[in-house]
Amino acid sequence: MFDYDLATIKLYWAKTEQPCATFDALVDIGYLDAPASKGHHLAVKGGLVRHSMRVTQHLLETRAVPEVSAYRIGMYHDLVKCLCYKTSEGGGFEYVQPPYPGHGVASVLIADDLGIHLEPFERAAIVWHMGAFGLDERQMEEYKASLRKWPVPIIFTHAADHLASVQEEVEAKS
Ligand SMILES: [Fe+2]
Ligand SMILES: [Fe+2]
Repeated sequence: MFDYDLATIKLYWAKTEQPCATFDALVDIGYLDAPASKGHHLAVKGGLVRHSMRVTQHLLETRAVPEVSAYRIGMYHDLVKCLCYKTSEGGGFEYVQPPYPGHGVASVLIADDLGIHLEPFERAAIVWHMGAFGLDERQMEEYKASLRKWPVPIIFTHAADHLASVQEEVEAKS
């Protein structure tokens, strides 16, 4: 579906308007090699960046957030996946607990570690990109509070991520 080569990836990264050093920092933590999942969608080397570009594309199509934010949210929403999958002896991937809690929260913290700038609503969209899936009662209250403040970025980011994941699973089975 997408041109997937270094030049295109760099084009997407450039649209996120970050300091030059952040691209090398992303490469250093395995951004170009990480899978998008352990065994579901795009569980292959390079799966993460392909998934991220697809989410970016869907978010751009919605016009729900400014263009630069669509690129930032799409390209950085799953940064945690750079740290939580390692190649297993059998050739697949195994899960490793990253040093930060959560999924979206961890991605925001890793972006911060790399010197990537995110606006508050971009952070919120990344934090809650899984929607309400798997939230306990307390987290649900936190989610609703964020939704009240940034409803459009949060809901459309979740929709873009969910749509991309479903498409990738369908493609994997065809
Ligand atoms: Fe995710
Ligand atoms: Fe995702």
